[in-house]
Amino acid sequence: MCGIVGYVGHRPALDVVLQGLGRLEYRGYDSAGVAVVDGSGSLSVGRKAGPLANLAAELDGSGRDGFVGTTGMGHTRWATHGAPTDRNAHPHSDATGAVAVVHNGIIENFAQLRAELEASGVELTSETDTESAAHLIARQYAGDLAAAVRAVCRRLEGAFTLVVTHADEPGRIVAARRSSPLVVGVGDGEHFVASDVAAFIETTRDAVELGQDQVVTISADGYTVTDFHGDPVATRLFHVDWDLSAAEKGGHDYFMLKEIEEQPSAVRDTLRGHFVDGRIVLDEQRMDTQELRDVDKVFVVACGTAYHSGLVAKYAIEHWCRLPVEAELASEFRYRDPVLDRSTLVVAISQSGETADTLEAVRHAREQKARVLAICNTNGAQIPRESDAVLYTHAGPEIGVAATKTFVAQVVANYLVGLALAQARGTKYSDEIAREFAELEAMPDAVADVLGTVERVRALGRDIAGSKAVLFLGRHVGYPVALEGALKLKELAYMHAEGFAAGELKHGPIALLEEGLPVVVVMPSPKGRGVLHSKLLSNIQEIRARGARTIVVAEEGDDTVRPYASHLLEVPAVPTLLQPLVSTVPLQVLAAEIARARGFDVDRPRNLAKSVTVE
Ligand code: G6P
Repeated sequence: MCGIVGYVGHRPALDVVLQGLGRLEYRGYDSAGVAVVDGSGSLSVGRKAGPLANLAAELDGSGRDGFVGTTGMGHTRWATHGAPTDRNAHPHSDATGAVAVVHNGIIENFAQLRAELEASGVELTSETDTESAAHLIARQYAGDLAAAVRAVCRRLEGAFTLVVTHADEPGRIVAARRSSPLVVGVGDGEHFVASDVAAFIETTRDAVELGQDQVVTISADGYTVTDFHGDPVATRLFHVDWDLSAAEKGGHDYFMLKEIEEQPSAVRDTLRGHFVDGRIVLDEQRMDTQELRDVDKVFVVACGTAYHSGLVAKYAIEHWCRLPVEAELASEFRYRDPVLDRSTLVVAISQSGETADTLEAVRHAREQKARVLAICNTNGAQIPRESDAVLYTHAGPEIGVAATKTFVAQVVANYLVGLALAQARGTKYSDEIAREFAELEAMPDAVADVLGTVERVRALGRDIAGSKAVLFLGRHVGYPVALEGALKLKELAYMHAEGFAAGELKHGPIALLEEGLPVVVVMPSPKGRGVLHSKLLSNIQEIRARGARTIVVAEEGDDTVRPYASHLLEVPAVPTLLQPLVSTVPLQVLAAEIARARGFDVDRPRNLAKSVTVE
């Protein structure tokens, strides 16, 4: 939520910053802005409502006058305080224009700070919380920008990451972090700060994680990190294990389409290295096997698509481990006083590792002495840092705002957690675990098979793009798939879409059925839990009897359903619990194609942000 980047080096900062912002636009695209300082201490600021392209066009139109320095920073915004206008776009400055600040997060005591500034005669020109920080830093400044930033940070409440420059200190950028993410990019004679390594991956894959309540000063030659009181802190350098090609569209019109195609490797890479010498292993485990064995209850907490993956986890963990599992929205979990103790395991799932609700759920769980296991796609993000154990999904960077490849990777990671628990608790023999793992290893090929058949899905998408609504039904693990299919359609195509547990059809949703309404039905396998298959067949009859169109996702060779499907989308036969890995894929493609047919940008759906770092 909001992308920020800062640069000090030997190249024209404007180009570097604009390029970095282009790679961070998935974090927000309501407005964009840049600030550049030249060697003589002249600070230029440009800001524009709308996507980054609007700002770039305006800068080009003015010949980029004034933006000539090698120190600069930029911002791409997802609006919280104040509408997405030019005036509210970052960077924000003080009255003299000496300071420029970009910000990600929410300064919660901003009303009090604003009142204090206004009482002392400061005229605020925007509706943002950020502008107060710019004025406070300018007032605090006495020749040492880092000291001024630290002093102001000590007064700020909430989650915030600030990047600050001062006209009197060209060649230096100061950034501070509380909760919202920030990484330092370490180049040769140039340094970066950014919300995400994607901003500088073209230049360097060496990065430093900034911890909670830390301040970094970067220059062309190096960086120093302290806490909010100025005491030096140790940092950890890490090497990013993906490269520029992973952050580019690779010949696709949209990142999301590329990411859908990357799902077989997301599954494969997430499995890699987790079955060693016949045993399931996690990435980081700061709790011992006995603690895992003692777990008597599991909560899975997450938001959005990650929550849907968590619903799948419930079926797998209960079945394999005979443990009670509750899957819960992180935003509800922490406000309802869940019963937690030392033997409770909370599995926190988050692609970004920075979603505010999930992070706060983790903190709440740990305060209650529960153990937390994070499933995360971002190395070193805040949620894994605060957890007792971590399993990383290796889906690579996901730029499309609507999650696709990270969903399948999360589902796989959930299965690994289930198997790790089954192993620790002895509810499965080692040969059974080996068999389950082997079945998982067959899934990349199964997902690739689905991808080979999606042309029919695309044609169907174009055909139903004019519908006013689409319903999705599923049972057992097909229920989370139905929810995820509906979410994708809402996010991308702005269509009314609802996912239901198929058994609930008669308890309300049936009233929505009308002539021609598309209803997607996620069929279970006729083998395995065959009883559910016949129940869904009955649902399909009920839907058809009311004139609605049935779009049926079913296992290849399931001839019993064929006569009743207006459209049949076949997926390979796989074990029941693993079905979401194949049956979600056509629904992602369907939503993307409907959105494209309706003329929408599938990478940047309106009003959404990829990582939601505010509650
Ligand atoms: C946002 C994104 C979703 C994502 C959700 C949770 O709403 O648009 O795609 O599923 O956040 O994000 P997380 O990073 O915690 O998985």
